[in-house]
Amino acid sequence: MVETGFLFPKTFLWGAATSSHQVEGMNTRNDWWEWEQTGRVKEPSGRACEHWDRFREDFKLAKSLHHNAHRFSLEWSRVEPEEGKFSEEALSHYREVIRSLRENGLEPVVTLNHFTVPLWFAGQGGWLSPRSPELFARYVKRAVEFLGGEVRFWITLNEPVVYVFKSYLVGEWPPGERSYKKGFRVLSHLLRGHVLAYDAIKGVTGALPGRPVQVGVAKHVVIFHACSPKSWRDRFSVGMRNLMFNHLFIKALIRGRIFYPGLFHVRLPRARTLDFIGLNYYTRDFVHNEGFRMLEIFGDVCTLKHHREIGKRNSLGWEIFPEGLYQLVKEFSRYRLPLLITENGICTDSDEERFEFIRKHLACLGRAVREGAPVIGYLYWSLLDNFEWADGFEPRFGLVEVDDVTQARRVRESARRFSEISKTGRISWNE
Ligand code: FCB
Repeated sequence: MVETGFLFPKTFLWGAATSSHQVEGMNTRNDWWEWEQTGRVKEPSGRACEHWDRFREDFKLAKSLHHNAHRFSLEWSRVEPEEGKFSEEALSHYREVIRSLRENGLEPVVTLNHFTVPLWFAGQGGWLSPRSPELFARYVKRAVEFLGGEVRFWITLNEPVVYVFKSYLVGEWPPGERSYKKGFRVLSHLLRGHVLAYDAIKGVTGALPGRPVQVGVAKHVVIFHACSPKSWRDRFSVGMRNLMFNHLFIKALIRGRIFYPGLFHVRLPRARTLDFIGLNYYTRDFVHNEGFRMLEIFGDVCTLKHHREIGKRNSLGWEIFPEGLYQLVKEFSRYRLPLLITENGICTDSDEERFEFIRKHLACLGRAVREGAPVIGYLYWSLLDNFEWADGFEPRFGLVEVDDVTQARRVRESARRFSEISKTGRISWNE
């Protein structure tokens, strides 16, 4: 008999993701807010989606869409608005958020840091400061002491390598640095910050009853292909990108150290500080070599300039390449850790395209799972249309449309069709 589809495991997590600064609104005490006031972004985040006040309504929608999990982040600058002073009010708010998720049958997946940092922390040099890993771990400890009993999945950092790239190499995000030396320093502090946070979470929750707590990172991954497949130089840069961008952070945490002669060397307090790997997947990049000096080895992206074979793109110009999810999940299976798709989504004005995106990616994911990949869930980015960093509110990623003026929510058709899949756990190969 011809196999027409695939049934995901009953325990599979289905849902969507958000992050504090992109949806809460009025996060006035972090570095992004300050950056927005200097006019370097399309528009400021302002009230965003008013999710701070509307989370209950939003979770009800998620439940109605047959989600059984939801990823969100704590806003560090709300929890610790001044150095060492923790806000009971903010922590109680997040406890309410978690309770509301549970009441709606949604497993909370909680990110502790999604790009934004408190102003006081930025003022001390942010992640460049040698104290930064300890300062991060102190915040994590306090937050987990307050909330730990109610959360099973913690994500320490969102996309640490993207953060380094955008904030310290190309200077598009705060603090707008352009220095690879600083970039590597921040990277090593983020690694150390993760390890200290991991220990803090395990230390606090170790004694609590219930199911074991799982700690991971949300790692942005990209499929890299050579601009000219025949060029060994391009293929070399593809390899370097794959190593540095996709694998370095994970390898360092698993091994407890990483040593690339002349490039990067870090020794961490401990090895094996990952219980699962979160993957954020969006696109493929074509790369061509630029030379062999520092940074040149990673090449440049020529997707838009040269390549004819690229497929459809989202409204930000990122190519849609579902097969990449299959390839990356297979590649990351070699770490023998559970994989959670912590983000995958499309910004588009065509809702038909959104559902096609979801369906094709889930078909690829299903194929990988059928072949034994240890994937435990899929979280679509994002539940709501929201503040897309430097690109403002224009890119529409949401399963739920948010009216900029009235803040009214409207469930998109693609969300309903996705809910049929999450309800049954079944994806057909071709529909
Ligand atoms: C990811 C970020 C997330 C969102 C999506 C579109 O890289 O983690 O905050 O901006 O891209």
